[in-house]
Amino acid sequence: MTAAASSNAQLDLFEVIHTVLTDGSVRLPNGSHKPITGGISLAEALELASLIEENEVRRTVETGVAFGVSTLAICAALKNTGATGALHVGIDPDPRSQHEGAALAQLERFGLTSYFRLLEGPTHLMAPKLLAEGFHAGLAFIDGLHNFDYTLVDFFLLDKILLPGGLLAIHDLDLPSKKKVVRFILANRHYEMLRYRPQPLARTVRELLRCIKHRDGMVGPVLRRMPRMIVLRKLDCWEPEWHYFKAF
Ligand SMILES: C[S@@+](CC[C@H](N)C(=O)[O-])C[C@H]1O[C@@H](n2cnc3c(N)ncnc32)[C@H](O)[C@@H]1O
Repeated sequence: MTAAASSNAQLDLFEVIHTVLTDGSVRLPNGSHKPITGGISLAEALELASLIEENEVRRTVETGVAFGVSTLAICAALKNTGATGALHVGIDPDPRSQHEGAALAQLERFGLTSYFRLLEGPTHLMAPKLLAEGFHAGLAFIDGLHNFDYTLVDFFLLDKILLPGGLLAIHDLDLPSKKKVVRFILANRHYEMLRYRPQPLARTVRELLRCIKHRDGMVGPVLRRMPRMIVLRKLDCWEPEWHYFKAF
């Protein structure tokens, strides 16, 4: 892969992500190995990449970089589009401390450093800076702190960065907090959900039983059999009247 690192050749995305996930760890600059304990799957990485390539996206932003699996997929796809000025911005408070620079090491390994800009800090402090700079993106990925309020803040800010027609991917839809945010978006903002491959029936039944047991009010989304990652399209820049609210 080091040859690809210095060339303009297209990266084989499957090969890159598959290699990283099978290695299961990242080699840090000090020679030690940092195990990858979280991140999106190979299928999800390929889905993000094809969204970028098919929609000729040039600018992207994500919350939650961690070990950089999603970051790698996004940067590799941006490289493959061949677009000038292609850039991915990743927001994370702990990329160097908790994750010991693993994401940066991965990008370096595959020659993708120039496609990436890291904003070290939580979304609520970093995304406003991007907004103030006038940065806009064709794809945003939400995978930061998973609680309802933090995910809603991620959405609120990334929505302002996302261009009309842009794509918003949200991860960990198995969590009620994430489902609730998606319900808010669909009820209160102008977004449509893209088609997805429904969850297997057995998993849906398991989730339904959990909903009933915990009474988390998520029966509706569970019955929609949403996968772990869903993609929404921002239809326009509509802003509601000051008193607008739809229950969700
Ligand atoms: C599930 S991991 C992200 C996985 C990554 N997208 C991947 O596929 O490899 C969640 C990340 O969110 C970060 N995080 C925690 N609080 C955050 C916040 N307030 N804003 C942005 N990111 C946050 C954590 O440091 C962690 O790295």
